[in-house]
Amino acid sequence: MMALSGLKQPPFKHDLQELPNGELVWNGSLVLLKYLQEKGENFWRGKKVLEVGSGAGHLGYDLSLMGCDVTCTEMPGKMIKALEESITDLETKVPRKHGSVTCKPLLWGEEGWKADPLNDEYDIIIAAEVVFHEGTHRQLLWTLGKASNQNTEIYSIFLNRPFSWNFFVIIDDDKLFRVEQIEGYDEMGLDDVHMHILRPFKDEKAEEQVVEKVETAKEEGGLEVETATEKNGEKKEEEELSLFELIDQLLGINAEKLQKWVNASLGCLLFISLIFIKMAIGMDDYMMAALHGGFFTLVLCLGASVNWVIMEAHRLEAEKRLKDGIEDTKDVPIENKKTQ
Ligand SMILES: C[S@@+](CC[C@H](N)C(=O)[O-])C[C@H]1O[C@@H](n2cnc3c(N)ncnc32)[C@H](O)[C@@H]1O
Repeated sequence: MMALSGLKQPPFKHDLQELPNGELVWNGSLVLLKYLQEKGENFWRGKKVLEVGSGAGHLGYDLSLMGCDVTCTEMPGKMIKALEESITDLETKVPRKHGSVTCKPLLWGEEGWKADPLNDEYDIIIAAEVVFHEGTHRQLLWTLGKASNQNTEIYSIFLNRPFSWNFFVIIDDDKLFRVEQIEGYDEMGLDDVHMHILRPFKDEKAEEQVVEKVETAKEEGGLEVETATEKNGEKKEEEELSLFELIDQLLGINAEKLQKWVNASLGCLLFISLIFIKMAIGMDDYMMAALHGGFFTLVLCLGASVNWVIMEAHRLEAEKRLKDGIEDTKDVPIENKKTQ
């Protein structure tokens, strides 16, 4: 089914693989590609498709062979150049009967859009393995909102990595999209891989309700709180802040940063205790060396536990939010673009 040569075939044992030309392909995208290909050529013929973070462009290219017009995008600079080269290479190796692929630079977020604007004509948007870095979630969501119209469907796949689920926490918090979790597809050997369809809320429903983002000025020292307000103004509900949001609001650091800081501090302690162990051995004081060794082991265990707790709390919270969000957002229509 796949047109690309040189690719390892499933079952996949690793998250990613390297193409002969050195480009990386994230195997999750091949799972999504297979799922999308199974929709058949009748579904894809004539569709306008946007892919964000295309990488080597293999997914967009193979999809275009089904008869759709795909715009593959990458970061400006060397990433878009590599994508263009990869697509040119594919055009020569795998000829097409119909469909097309165009490459365009697109950095996620408002600035990137201003520099290289697109439009919202897309029927389908593909987001394969693009939520791996928490720091870009908001920019990516901004771009997805901007590029989608009322009928756009966004297909997302990701392998669970630390904080990937936070992407869905933001969607839930800001009521950006309706989320459908896709179950029961062929995971092709990968573990903990998740597929979703995101759909914008419909316009007519958005007229019934508006979302107000109330941002109390940080200079005033207040917390940032979001409220959903019905148009008649009768109901005003304050959203519950999660543990990580509370830490973020109070200390100005997100969960990813918090974890990095904790690891950096424990790393320093480990380094210092190693020096003491070395000194004690140098002085033939094995009792002292054993004591420092004990301390070293304790810090190591502490580090592992703290990391596990942060990640597990984050994962459970995100899963709960997503589950609640899917239930809640069915009836909470808020226009996507207004919230961005
Ligand atoms: C994990 S790779 C996935 C690539 C491809 N979709 C795949 O599955 O093989 C993520 C891609 O997103 C792109 N990317 C990351 N941050 C980006 C940003 N802020 N704006 C645009 N693209 C970005 C990277 O250049 C990279 O190619």
